[in-house]
Amino acid sequence: MSKTLIPSSRGAYEVHVAPGLLQSAGEMCGQLLKTRRVLVVADDEVTATHARTVVEGLQASGLTVSMVSIRAAEIRKTIEVVAQIWSHAMSAGIERSDALVVVGGGLVGDVGGFAAASWLRGVDVVQIPTTLLAMVDASVGGKTAVNVPLPDSVGGGLGKNMAGAFWPPRLVLADPETLQTLPSRHISCGLAEAVKHGLLADPDLLDLIERMGPALVKGSLDGAETIISRAVSIKADIVARDELESGQRALLNLGHTFAHAIEGRPALGLHHGEAVAIGLMAAGALGVQLETMASDALDRLRSLLASLSLPVILPGPCPADQLLERMRFDKKMDQGTMRLIVPQAPCGACIRTDVSDAQVLEAWRSVGAS
Ligand SMILES: NC(=O)c1ccc[n+]([C@@H]2O[C@H](COP(=O)([O-])OP(=O)(O)OC[C@H]3O[C@@H](n4cnc5c(N)ncnc54)[C@H](O)[C@@H]3O)[C@@H](O)[C@H]2O)c1
Repeated sequence: MSKTLIPSSRGAYEVHVAPGLLQSAGEMCGQLLKTRRVLVVADDEVTATHARTVVEGLQASGLTVSMVSIRAAEIRKTIEVVAQIWSHAMSAGIERSDALVVVGGGLVGDVGGFAAASWLRGVDVVQIPTTLLAMVDASVGGKTAVNVPLPDSVGGGLGKNMAGAFWPPRLVLADPETLQTLPSRHISCGLAEAVKHGLLADPDLLDLIERMGPALVKGSLDGAETIISRAVSIKADIVARDELESGQRALLNLGHTFAHAIEGRPALGLHHGEAVAIGLMAAGALGVQLETMASDALDRLRSLLASLSLPVILPGPCPADQLLERMRFDKKMDQGTMRLIVPQAPCGACIRTDVSDAQVLEAWRSVGAS
């Protein structure tokens, strides 16, 4: 069992990681939340399983529980789905002192978190992640968001996470046993974000993922708790220093400015973690150009991602110049200047605002853009 305390503007909260934790989730929420009613926002893939366990635990703690199921799809990560949760909160009589408990992957975590941030101008939220990606990253740090359509001029699709709020949870409970039902493709996705954390701050985590990651993708849970808790502590450390991303928290976006340009293109069929894997390769290629990363470190990254069944090049045709234009819609634009996160050797990253369009285009071409 690992426990990490994260300070935040709404009060410090704990992230617990332990196999079997789901069984005590209801009781832990009941003890922490000074509330009578709870709305569980459940990913529809876990409504009948993991969310049911949580609901039963909450009820056993004497809480009145309602539930709304959400289908996790980027195309449905919209304000309309948030409005659907608000309607359920209305019907359930959720008041300012009540809470939302979100059970699911990062997508439902972001949407449910945003609904909590906005319902009655903010009610408590507990995050119970059930994907590896949500455990190592999305459930921690208080970012919530929905996607917003992009203009047709840059190929349409969705602008990732363009509207949202910082809304720290009251508690995060990660039970690695819930990953037993998660398809292996999504285990790979979670490992992509864990690799990002390793690149940023922890070479030992990279070694661990190199050793244990491929077996995790095949269904083993050996090493899962350690990988999750190490990744959480890296994110916790960065978020504690810069909760609202006025500086160093932007480093957590390593690979993401590239990833967001391709993730919202339905034709590519990429999940978030897969887009991040390609984004890490593009950011690494940029690092090699800017001489902040050695080419053998990029080769090691490519082998590691490939060993985790993650893509390292684009799966379909994409013009590099259009991808560059899509990057300009990223949230990390600052007064018209693109802020890119570039990996540094042997570990770490830096924020660069001096990267030329030609260098970004070359990075895109290194991952297969035309
Ligand atoms: N807020 C943040 O800081 C942050 C950080 C990283 C990513 N994100 C967001 O997280 C999202 C990606 O999250 P994700 O990778 O968890 O994807 P996801 O939430 O889409 O879940 C992946 C799939 O797994 C299913 N699922 C969830 N738990 C399951 C389980 N235990 N068993 C079986 N199926 C299960 C879901 O229904 C979905 O089909 C993106 O929208 C991304 O923008 C947010």
